[in-house]
Amino acid sequence: MPLESRLGIGSIGRAGFTGRVACGYQVPGTAGLRLHYPVLRRCWFASYVTYTGIVALAFVHHLQFIRRYVRDPKVVGAVAPSSRALAVALSRHYKNSDKPATVLEVGAGTGPVTRYLGTILGDADSLDICEVQPSFVKILQHDVVSSQAFGPAVKAGRVNIIAKPVQQLTDENRYDFIISGLPFTAFDLSDVRDIFDVIRRVLKPGGVFSYFEYVGLRKISRNCSLGKKRSQIRGVSSFLNRLIREHQFDREMVVKNFPPAYARHLRFDS
Ligand SMILES: C[S@@+](CC[C@H](N)C(=O)[O-])C[C@H]1O[C@@H](n2cnc3c(N)ncnc32)[C@H](O)[C@@H]1O
Repeated sequence: MPLESRLGIGSIGRAGFTGRVACGYQVPGTAGLRLHYPVLRRCWFASYVTYTGIVALAFVHHLQFIRRYVRDPKVVGAVAPSSRALAVALSRHYKNSDKPATVLEVGAGTGPVTRYLGTILGDADSLDICEVQPSFVKILQHDVVSSQAFGPAVKAGRVNIIAKPVQQLTDENRYDFIISGLPFTAFDLSDVRDIFDVIRRVLKPGGVFSYFEYVGLRKISRNCSLGKKRSQIRGVSSFLNRLIREHQFDREMVVKNFPPAYARHLRFDS
């Protein structure tokens, strides 16, 4: 069911929009104002209800994200969903590419990057969204891909939610772009290796893998942890450093994110 219907704001939202148009074009004088005052009042009220609903839903998603992090920090790996600025940075190479393209998003969470992808998805592009947490999968199904931006692509069967770990993907050379929200620093080295094996297998030759990491997080975690945790972070960090050295062709620092992050872009066959 679309987000607007779930919130019960669909018709009010449209009334608000119509009201704004009516106010803008039909109220040049006092008489007009008097005539349209109820519409004016209704449209402001409708807009207020619409935006309050959207803000409330974003807040609920945020709370669910934090709750899931508290329960499962090794899987979720972040205390806050990514900002739009980070979503834009991660999607930059896909957005600037020659289309049509096949895109995979891994670790979509509550969908901040997915939402942005919905706004740039081309007419012949396809998007697979891989997420392991069932509660996030529900949000993606009911509140994200049901939104208007995804309408035509969903109708044409070009958007697909894969509710399982990325390690279980079996394709070869399928995607032009893979955009990842996976928290590699929270994973064991063996999991990171397995995931990169899958990513390299499912990416087409010449394809681009984009992911983010928080600025300084690896260094801080390494310096603030002891024993097994410290050697886990060291192992993952040196694995990532080697990949970055050999395959990164672009990097962008995004300060409009909490915490600030690097969006990294890798190509494996160059
Ligand atoms: C740091 S959150 C990022 C969420 C979102 N993309 C964002 O940028 O806000 C990481 C997400 O990856 C998911 N995840 C963790 N391990 C995964 C796996 N093996 N396969 C697919 N998704 C996974 C988690 O459930 C979580 O939603």
